[in-house]
Amino acid sequence: MTRNVRITLHPSFDVLAATTAARLITRLLDVQSERGEATVVLTGGSVGIATLTAIAQSPARLAVDWAKVNFWFGDDRFVAADSPDRNAGQAAAALLDHIDADPARVHVMAASDQVADLAAAAADYTAQLAAAARLEWENDDDAASATEPTVPRFDVLLLGLGPDAHIASLFPEMAGIRTAGVPVVGVVNSPKPPPLRVSLTLEAINSAQEIWIVAAGADKAAAVGLGLAGANPVQVPASGARGLAKTLWLLDQDAAAKVPEQLMRREQYSR
Ligand code: 6PG
Repeated sequence: MTRNVRITLHPSFDVLAATTAARLITRLLDVQSERGEATVVLTGGSVGIATLTAIAQSPARLAVDWAKVNFWFGDDRFVAADSPDRNAGQAAAALLDHIDADPARVHVMAASDQVADLAAAAADYTAQLAAAARLEWENDDDAASATEPTVPRFDVLLLGLGPDAHIASLFPEMAGIRTAGVPVVGVVNSPKPPPLRVSLTLEAINSAQEIWIVAAGADKAAAVGLGLAGANPVQVPASGARGLAKTLWLLDQDAAAKVPEQLMRREQYSR
C-alpha cells in the first residue's frame, strides 16, 4: 500500500513548533467537525513538547472542544509519576493542565510507582487501548473491520525522532522495533535514558490515519535522510512509520540537511 509522504521545512525550531501546533489545531478542528471528537497521540522529546507549549500559547486553541479530544501517548518513561522525566507530566505542564481536557479522555501510561512492573504497565496500556477500541467498534455502524481492533482510531500520531532514527521508544536493532502482534511493548536498556519505557509498537503506530514526524537540529539530519530513504525499519525505525492516509515529516532546515534534493523538489511523494 503506498501512502502519501510529505516533507515540510521550517526556518527554525520555534517556527517548526508553532507551525506544527497550528497544523494540529486545524486538524483537530477538521476531525471534530466530521466526527464530533478527535484523537491525538502525543510524543515526548523537545519538538513534541514545544509543540504542546505552542498550542497552549495560541489563541486558536480556543476553537477546539478539548473536552472531546482523546489523548494517548506514543511512549513514556517507566519512572515515578512525579518524575520530571515523564512525558505525561511534561505534556500536562505544557498543555493539558491549561485546557479543558476531559481527564477520562487522557490516557496515560502507568508509572513505576503505580504498577508492579514494566510488564504490568504494558498490559495496562494494552487494556486501555482495547477498551477504547471496543467502544468505538460497538458504536460504529460502518465498522470497517470485521474483527475488533486492538487500538482506537488515531487521527494524528506525533513522533519525535532520535539521532539514531528511533521513534517513540523503538530503538534500532532492539526488541521493541521487532515486536509484532501486540500494540504495546515494555522497553528495557533504552539507549536514551531513562532505561525503562513503555511504547506503542510499530504496528500500533502505523494504525494511525496520519503520522507526523517532527525533528529539529543538525544531529537529526542523518536519521531524517535514512528515514526517508526507505531503509529497513529494524535498523532505521523512523523508516517504518507510515500513516494510513498520510505521513508528514515536519523539519527545520538543519534536520533536513541530508534529505536528497530530488525529494525536496517533490513536495509530496508516495512510495
Ligand atoms: C521520548 C520520546 C522520543 C523522542 C526522541 C526525540 O520519550 O524520549 O518519545 O522518541 O521524541 O528521542 O527527542 P528530542 O527531540 O528531545 O531529541
